[in-house]
Amino acid sequence: MRIPFIAGNWKMFKTEEESVAFAEKFKELYQGTDVRAAICAPFTDLRALKEAFEGTAIGVGAQNVHFADEGAYTGEISVKMLQEIGVDYCIVGHSERRQYFAETDETVNLKLKKLLEGTISPILCVGESLEQRDSGKLFDVVKNQLVEDLKDIPSGDIQRIVIAYEPIWAIGTGRTATPQQAEEMCAFIRQTLIEMYDEETADQVILQYGGSVKPANASEIMNMDEIDGALVGGASLKAEDFMAIIDF
Ligand code: 13P
Repeated sequence: MRIPFIAGNWKMFKTEEESVAFAEKFKELYQGTDVRAAICAPFTDLRALKEAFEGTAIGVGAQNVHFADEGAYTGEISVKMLQEIGVDYCIVGHSERRQYFAETDETVNLKLKKLLEGTISPILCVGESLEQRDSGKLFDVVKNQLVEDLKDIPSGDIQRIVIAYEPIWAIGTGRTATPQQAEEMCAFIRQTLIEMYDEETADQVILQYGGSVKPANASEIMNMDEIDGALVGGASLKAEDFMAIIDF
């Protein structure tokens, strides 16, 4: 049984003060819910969010991490630093990081492995551009990402990784993939995991869809068989909207 998991990705929004205001409101709304939820916030918000969500089941995630234990990497943050704050999740390979910050499948793979050595669960993002979809390469692109990103990661660790299918053309554009398009790719991702590992392992992996998810389209997306959750950008910034998605 895969428990639905909905995570917010705040990207570069919300100061620490704003994050606490959100948390106070959101934890009231969230009470009594059995859908797993988390907020992936800027590094500067993480400690305050952990404190604000203490005693609740709401998880806190980072949006990036470095793959080295420590070292002369100005501006970077290590797994150990996140773990000391008690961070539960970390997004890896978001398309914005691949596009603007030179994230490659190789660094994604190193980051996943470093996270898996510790206690934080990675949320791995994969997805094709519009050009890749239009030229029919969408499945090759996503398969290649999975093969490269998960290289040498053993089946025992795979259940700890959440995989988010985020078609680049649907991110922040208001243009959501149809539930059928999202389902088709999530089914393909699960099939690829069966080929790379085995059916039992693949069955346990939580697959999220991300890209313009909002209260109005959450239920049709969440009701698809192979989609177990959502990674929500813009609509996770308002507690009421994010809660409406969780209440799909
Ligand atoms: P939007 O929900 O704003 O389209 O962003 C999706 C996303 O990138 C989540 O990681």
